Amino acid sequence: MADQYAQLREDKRPTEIPVIRWEEPPEGPVLVLLDQTRLPAEEVELVCTDAPALVEAIRSLAVRGAPLLGIAGAYGVALAAVRGFDVEEAARALEGARPTAVNLSVGVHKASSAYRTALTKTGDPAAAATAALAAARTLHQEDAEASARMAAHGLTLLDELLPGGGHRILTHCNTGSLVSGGEGTALAVALAAHRAGQLRRLWVDETRPLLQGARLTAYEAARHGMAYTLLTDNAAGSLFAAGEVDAVLIGADRIAADGSVANKVGSYPLAVLARYHHVPFIVVAPLTTVDAQTPDGASIEVEQRPGFEVTEVRAPQVPVAGAGDGIPVAPLGTQAYNPAFDVTPPELVTAIVTEEGAVSPVTAGALAELCARSGRA
Ligand code: MRU
Repeated sequence: MADQYAQLREDKRPTEIPVIRWEEPPEGPVLVLLDQTRLPAEEVELVCTDAPALVEAIRSLAVRGAPLLGIAGAYGVALAAVRGFDVEEAARALEGARPTAVNLSVGVHKASSAYRTALTKTGDPAAAATAALAAARTLHQEDAEASARMAAHGLTLLDELLPGGGHRILTHCNTGSLVSGGEGTALAVALAAHRAGQLRRLWVDETRPLLQGARLTAYEAARHGMAYTLLTDNAAGSLFAAGEVDAVLIGADRIAADGSVANKVGSYPLAVLARYHHVPFIVVAPLTTVDAQTPDGASIEVEQRPGFEVTEVRAPQVPVAGAGDGIPVAPLGTQAYNPAFDVTPPELVTAIVTEEGAVSPVTAGALAELCARSGRA
């Protein structure tokens, strides 16, 4: 396994611009993001000088994906602190920017509690801001390490479930380097299989309406030289029926205490298909995505996005200003149902892979035990 990861350094980076970075130019510290709304047309930076700019970047999905939202939230608190803004107000705004990915509030809380602790101890806002930034940097680094460990555990699980290699893996949304301090979650496992010579085909769901699969996963897969094929979300059924899928690998935005998994809308139908066709349905997520405070799937708040994302289409290089600036694909005035996520019940999930190992079968007890073993109960 170590050799496979040593090889990582020689691979092309998934993007030329880092997905997120902290910079300190003479004008003052900034958080620089790769604007994911513009991919794959162009790699453009988005510079945030304060928390409101970052809140907008989160809402518009310029920065997205559960683990990266956590990292961004932590840096956002640090940005407010270092620039002398109201840290508590910034933390509230950041935490409320999107409701489903629990990582966002985990990241915000880590940085704001580091800030508060240091402020209480030293009485010095500058020292407290330094502590908040250190917490953000630690989370960023920890996520990179978790990502590598999830990839290793996921590859081991694939070897167990599908002896013989030559995997044909179906994935949904985007779960690679664009969502992580490292190489991601589900896509990191597929990448590990690719590097081990065990990936025959990566089936990439386009992921309507915002096309994270087509725009982002295909982009990453191409840059890594993976054998991939893009399909419309509604083509997945016939792909299963043709016996072309060996496993489904997806990420998660929040995993409830009972093992229910909230992930990009369209994940639940894949789980139903996978069960019907006796195909493993595997969720890959860091422990920061497991939320012991949310008892079950029904308690997960699913973000509802604006209808124009469904009723209009726009080219990736066209910045999204709002309703009416895209090309209409439905009669004017059409109402749209546009939940960003859906919830898959634990009985449809074959395994949850974390950086501390896999849980299978997925039960509240097994999940709680894994969290307790890793000191996260
Ligand atoms: O709306 P998005 O693009 O932020 O949704 C992202 C997903 O649903 C991912 O699958 C999820 O965050 C897991 S990424 C590790």
